[in-house]
Amino acid sequence: MARAGSVSDALKSRISTRAFLDTPVSEAEVRALLETARWSASGGNLQPWKVHVVAGETRQSVIDAVKASLDKDPFANESEFSVYPEKLWEPYRSRRHRLGEDMYELLGIPRDDKMARLGQLMKNYEFFGAPVGIFFSIDERMGPGQWAHLGMFMMSLALAAEEAGLATCFQEAWSPRARTVAEVLGIEAPYIVYCGMALGHGDPDAPVNQLRSKRAEVDEFAAFSGF
Ligand SMILES: Cc1cc2nc3c(=O)[nH]c(=O)nc-3n(C[C@H](O)[C@H](O)[C@H](O)COP(=O)(O)O)c2cc1C
Repeated sequence: MARAGSVSDALKSRISTRAFLDTPVSEAEVRALLETARWSASGGNLQPWKVHVVAGETRQSVIDAVKASLDKDPFANESEFSVYPEKLWEPYRSRRHRLGEDMYELLGIPRDDKMARLGQLMKNYEFFGAPVGIFFSIDERMGPGQWAHLGMFMMSLALAAEEAGLATCFQEAWSPRARTVAEVLGIEAPYIVYCGMALGHGDPDAPVNQLRSKRAEVDEFAAFSGF
């Protein structure tokens, strides 16, 4: 993949990659990304992020443990927070719906093929084939402000990866298995797992990686005054 030349390039070229090559990524490469991302801003400079990077056997242990937990109880929810409000409203509902429809259309999976759609969802739990997985956790005593700052750190990391020619996908899908992940990785209270990230080399030939999600126009979310 091409290296992004500027922050704007990286912002526009980064996408959620949902199919990866098995080309390995070294610890040194991931460390370099974290070296960059750690310069993210955070309120009061709290830097309220904790990161667990997994590859090789550890990555496999996470995948195996989560698979076992899904086999045991597919509906269990170990999430430490609500990923979405219970019933989304407009315009958010339509945006989410559109993303799903666009993705499944690219994959040629019709709406009524629930098993195929579930199969695609389950790929989350293998990091979409990425050789590296990253888990972000936060002290549960932190509030919405610090969660936002953790999100900023995560985006910085994704952009640093993009600049380095690596692909990513954020993965809240791990959240319903947060305690299983925490157990495998030895993440203990007060830390809770928020989100995962798949990191690696994207498969340029995978149809799912052709997805370019839509965005609202600036005037839909920004108000200007006093100019
Ligand atoms: C915090 C966060 C969690 C996400 N979790 C998932 C996930 O579990 N699985 C997935 O396929 N995509 C996930 N996404 C990707 C979003 O669907 C994606 O960012 C959005 O549709 C915009 O598309 P883009 O990233 O390709 O620009 C997540 C994104 C964010 C920011």
